[in-house]
Amino acid sequence: MASNKITLSLLLFLAIFTYAKAKRGPLKETTMTVYFQDYSGDRNTTVIEVPGPSTGPLNFSRFGAMFVTDDPITGEFGEGSAPIARGRGMYVTSALDGSHTHVTLSVVFIDGEHKGSTLEIQGSSAQLEPVREVAVVGGTRKFRLARGYATFETLYYDPARKFAIIQSNITVFHYYKYC
Ligand SMILES: *[C@@H]1O[C@H](CO)[C@@H](O)[C@H](O)[C@H]1NC(C)=O
Ligand SMILES: *[C@@H]1O[C@H](CO)[C@@H](O)[C@H](O)[C@H]1NC(C)=O
Ligand SMILES: *[C@@H]1O[C@H](CO)[C@@H](O)[C@H](O)[C@H]1NC(C)=O
Repeated sequence: MASNKITLSLLLFLAIFTYAKAKRGPLKETTMTVYFQDYSGDRNTTVIEVPGPSTGPLNFSRFGAMFVTDDPITGEFGEGSAPIARGRGMYVTSALDGSHTHVTLSVVFIDGEHKGSTLEIQGSSAQLEPVREVAVVGGTRKFRLARGYATFETLYYDPARKFAIIQSNITVFHYYKYC
């Protein structure tokens, strides 16, 4: 009986493992050699020191400006609705002309069906566009091995309070069975 159980478990494990591997598809390898041309002097500068916290109004288009965030994330549009996650991370204005920000952000689920799991959002965001898209590069717990993308659209902005509500649609593939 015991050995039957072990055989059954092993078969089940192999079946799940094979299924997951099959879903991942074949691996493709690409190699490349690239060169970053990095100017750190005072002419045509492409890299600068991150300045300290600003005391004036935030300027998101200033190259090198760095921001740290811990936004409440809600399941409903309304301001003050119960947060299901926090958006914790940072973004740095990474285009010389201020058009793009580099986002490194964790969506830390604190309530609801995904509580205890996280998603990692990382990439270049065209911050002046009405809809921005950034990659989802990973996750934890329920979202292990997550891959996908997230869109961001500012639906509401109150300039007096400098308060924005940004809608984000997240699509991910992940191996829920690994949980
Ligand atoms: C800086 O950029 C300008 C415009 O692209 C170019 O004409 C100039 O030679 C550059 N200066 C240096 C020191 O590289
Ligand atoms: C923000 O920074 C950009 C780039 O340095 C500059 O052109 C712009 O005037 C600044 N805006 C404000 C409101 O300070
Ligand atoms: C995000 O999803 C909402 C609800 O389905 C939809 O109305 C909106 O157009 C979507 N936004 C983008 C940028 O796809």
